[in-house]
Amino acid sequence: MPSVIQLEGVTREFDASGPPALGPVSLDVPAGAAVAVTGPSGSGKSTLLNLIAGLDRPSSGTVTVAGTRLDALGEGGLARFRREHIGMVFQFFHLLDDLTVLDNVLLPAQLLGAPRAASRARALELLENLGIDRHARAYPGRLSGGERQRVAVARALINRPALLLADEPTGALDSAAGAEVRDLLVELHQDGQTVVLVTHDPALARACADRTVRLTDGRVAYDGPSDAAPEAPAGAGAAGAGASSAAVASVATGASEGVRG
Ligand SMILES: Nc1ncnc2c1ncn2[C@@H]1O[C@H](COP(=O)(O)OP(=O)(O)O)[C@@H](O)[C@H]1O
Ligand SMILES: [Mg+2]
Repeated sequence: MPSVIQLEGVTREFDASGPPALGPVSLDVPAGAAVAVTGPSGSGKSTLLNLIAGLDRPSSGTVTVAGTRLDALGEGGLARFRREHIGMVFQFFHLLDDLTVLDNVLLPAQLLGAPRAASRARALELLENLGIDRHARAYPGRLSGGERQRVAVARALINRPALLLADEPTGALDSAAGAEVRDLLVELHQDGQTVVLVTHDPALARACADRTVRLTDGRVAYDGPSDAAPEAPAGAGAAGAGASSAAVASVATGASEGVRG
């Protein structure tokens, strides 16, 4: 399988005085893989995901995603790359409350300039496949957390992305809704979608991904089968606050695209 993600010697420094928040990290993810990124809060999970998404640029090293060198792109190029190749799901959904469910899902397709009728048909099909088509004309505020995350997944898939990225997608859900989203990610992967899932929950990692990359202090501490990955110490966890600004950028530039219909 060709690589969808290739990172070579990637670092990200936010503060020149300390050690980098991430790296150096090298990583290769083949097409069709499902990889979980785990590690304690502050270990660099979101930083890594944002670099793969083209929401951020490395301080050093090369980031190649879907055949494109992201570290060599400018802002406009990165925005276009995200629209075409990346679907992203966040802990707190980041839906636009004054758009209907259907219009939320359609937004990335409109930003890409996709033909409207075909996009609508695909959006409705995705909503149907995700079991939420009856809410197409509702506003997100009327939906449960699990339903909102399904809308976010539909939005992420609308442009058929090479890569689906999820940052703590069950972190704000109760256990039943979290299990639904978990099962949905498993299904998407079984249908061939390449998935990178950030979670501090090793059980979710094992359920959704055969491979786990565990970060500690910004470095890869483990990269291997999920069922052999070291457990997180008790009490480790909580999603990074960095996700929300990334989400706004992602929605504003239409980071999503979609796949399985
Ligand atoms: N935009 C930012 N500016 C400064 N520091 C940041 C920024 N984003 C993340 N960091 C720092 O980088 C480290 C890794 O953060 P993050 O990737 O969000 O961790 P995780 O997602 O694993 O909880 C933390 O020390 C965090 O404070
Ligand atoms: Mg985080």
